[in-house]
Amino acid sequence: MSRAAIQSQRVDAPLTQAATFLVLSVTDAPEAIQKVRSTLASISDLSKNVSIRDLNASFACTVGIGSDVWDRVTRLPRPAELHPFPAVKGAVHTAVSTPGDLLFHIRSERRDLCFEFERQLMDSLGDAVALIDETVGFRYFDVRDLLGFVDGTANPVGPAVPDSILVAEEDAHVVGGSYIVVQKYVHNLKGWSTLKAEQQEAIIGRTKLDNVELDDAESGQQSHKTLATIEDDDGNEYSILRDNMPFGSPGSGEFGTYFIGYSRRLWVIERMLERMFKGDPPGLHDRLLDFSKPLTGTTFFAPSASLLDGLGND
Ligand code: HEM
Ligand SMILES: *[C@@H]1O[C@H](CO)[C@@H](O)[C@H](O)[C@H]1NC(C)=O
Ligand SMILES: *[C@@H]1O[C@H](CO)[C@@H](O)[C@H](O)[C@H]1NC(C)=O
Repeated sequence: MSRAAIQSQRVDAPLTQAATFLVLSVTDAPEAIQKVRSTLASISDLSKNVSIRDLNASFACTVGIGSDVWDRVTRLPRPAELHPFPAVKGAVHTAVSTPGDLLFHIRSERRDLCFEFERQLMDSLGDAVALIDETVGFRYFDVRDLLGFVDGTANPVGPAVPDSILVAEEDAHVVGGSYIVVQKYVHNLKGWSTLKAEQQEAIIGRTKLDNVELDDAESGQQSHKTLATIEDDDGNEYSILRDNMPFGSPGSGEFGTYFIGYSRRLWVIERMLERMFKGDPPGLHDRLLDFSKPLTGTTFFAPSASLLDGLGND
């Protein structure tokens, strides 16, 4: 297939007011794989049916497929880097690895469209899947996380977006696809609020009110921003696209950030996690983690829309 003929999923869709992150496992019910294949093949149709109900609501859904079910669900060659999320054990904090076969990243300006899509999706999948996690995210003021910082500023824009998130000729079978890593974090907001704004800013690497980037520390403890910056030996920087969303429930004391990163190269996100959890220099982990604990960690691959459509051909 030529590259021009391949259509990606809407991985670069804009951040919206609402998002649902749905992680499912595929069951061993009879015909489960068949049902998953036919549902994934009709995802673009289902998306159209829901998005037409308000064209202004920027509806988009991205599907990710996990390493364990890739072969059975697609019957196609595996993306070169696809493997389960590797736990990262630092001296103090651990990035846990948790199961997940399918990810649906559902986005819209309207919460009801996300809900309606998910309802029809679950109807279609029936007993072929079991729920692992469903997180409903919302926009918080000017795209802030619940720690109070603007989140997503350093994302690539324009032509840098496909360049950093879409697999190209380097892996010809899955051109137009994207690796996805998700982690559901819960925050210790009480602890965080005992820090002075300057301490919080040093941890993140940006100012809180006006979101100005701070210089990298010359040595010693590095900020989150610095630890999450990945360069190769030639000084080339590798970006990822993040669509983090806050979630939570003040009534039950839950305050979280759902981290989702899209990348053309899985190793870039994995190196970010190594640097955050083990520290650089080693031992000086990302202080953000003293107030943020990941409950999940799962890797997926979002194949092109063309590949998904083709799953219905049997
Ligand atoms: C509790 C979870 C997290 C929170 C609240 C958080 C928050 C932030 C904030 C506020 C910024 C600065 C503004 C921006 O550029 O977006 C940032 C930057 C960034 N974060 Fe995170 N983050 C979290 C987890 C992660 C994880 C797990 C990764 C990667 C595996 C990551 C990767 C990045 C990257 C690549 C940048 C941009 C660095 C730069 O080039 O300036 N973040 N994050
Ligand atoms: C989309 O809507 C059309 C028209 O109502 C219907 O025939 C079709 O089955 C729907 N597709 C999906 C995937 O729900
Ligand atoms: C979509 O938004 C535009 C501009 O805000 C508005 O003029 C138009 O009426 C809206 N269309 C619908 C279908 O809501």
